[in-house]
Amino acid sequence: MLHRRADQSLIERTRQIRRGLMGTPLIPLTDEQCDIVAKLEFCNPTGSSKDRSALRILEQAIGRGEIAHDTTVVESSSGNFALALAFYCRMLGISFVPVIDPNCNEATEAQLRLLCDRVEKVSIRDVTGSYLKNRLSRVQELLVELDSAYWPNQYANPDAREAHYHFTAGELIAQAGPLDYLFVGVGTGGTIAGLSRRIKETYPDCVVVAVDAEGSVIFGGPPKERRIPGIGSSIVPPLCGQALIDQVEIVSEARAVEACGVLAAKFGLYAGGSTGSTYAAVQDYFARHRPGAHRPRVAFIAADRGHAYAQTVYDPTWVQQLRAEAAQPAGVETLAVN
Ligand SMILES: Cc1ncc(COP(=O)(O)O)c(C=O)c1O
Repeated sequence: MLHRRADQSLIERTRQIRRGLMGTPLIPLTDEQCDIVAKLEFCNPTGSSKDRSALRILEQAIGRGEIAHDTTVVESSSGNFALALAFYCRMLGISFVPVIDPNCNEATEAQLRLLCDRVEKVSIRDVTGSYLKNRLSRVQELLVELDSAYWPNQYANPDAREAHYHFTAGELIAQAGPLDYLFVGVGTGGTIAGLSRRIKETYPDCVVVAVDAEGSVIFGGPPKERRIPGIGSSIVPPLCGQALIDQVEIVSEARAVEACGVLAAKFGLYAGGSTGSTYAAVQDYFARHRPGAHRPRVAFIAADRGHAYAQTVYDPTWVQQLRAEAAQPAGVETLAVN
């Protein structure tokens, strides 16, 4: 990577963008046993928690002179991180090439094709049935092919962790006050690494619960086909090792869908699949660990909105098929999607 003198006009532009950000809301959800608050990360400018890592990674790389006006940012993402990078790169006047795969939601792909001059789509699965390794190989080829390229590497970039340490956690602490429990969905691990470190500095007794999907290998479970993006992974992300995790809750996709239905029906929240997983984890955890006289104060992260899930989580036919497959005995072959 070429290190040059930092571009002052880009630094100034990132400062302008940063100054305009207001933070995301924290809303109370009624519950019989706990005082639950949801941090609505889907209220970020591009609609997900990935705004946090995308902007922080870009502004830090610009500050170090690793990104200038002629740099092309290249990243493997089929979802929210690509959308966030596409937005901030456009705002900054920098090229961005997302490397996506056929699991990319149609609306997301259309938006990426509108915001990016070039979109790379890999179509061959690796031996585990996932596209992830082939997407990452394509990123490496592009880094060689392009004259001046920058790879954010969201699975290992400490600036992703720092984004959540400084901003998501900073806001949560100011908005929520003391917390007994924090539930966070895990994909690359950046969110939980940053949040858990800052929360435990402020509230050392707060129990951090990592929420993962059935079929993800992050916490050592066997791989299995997964359909809900964002949460879970077919690799163990390096950032996960930097998180301070007390408990892990593994949630099935059928249960995540059910919890999305509850969030909509009870609170009017139209949330993404992983938010359903995280809320399901809160419910399931306290069904097993009944609180005593003290009502615990519980926060969870709502990572994205339901719109990208209209043809899946919110489509009755899709849900019926998911339930039918879940009822079948485990197949011989298992696949993972991310
Ligand atoms: C849509 C979405 N975005 C982000 C995350 C968490 O992100 P990460 O672990 O990659 O920081 C999740 C995890 O639940 C998610 O589902």
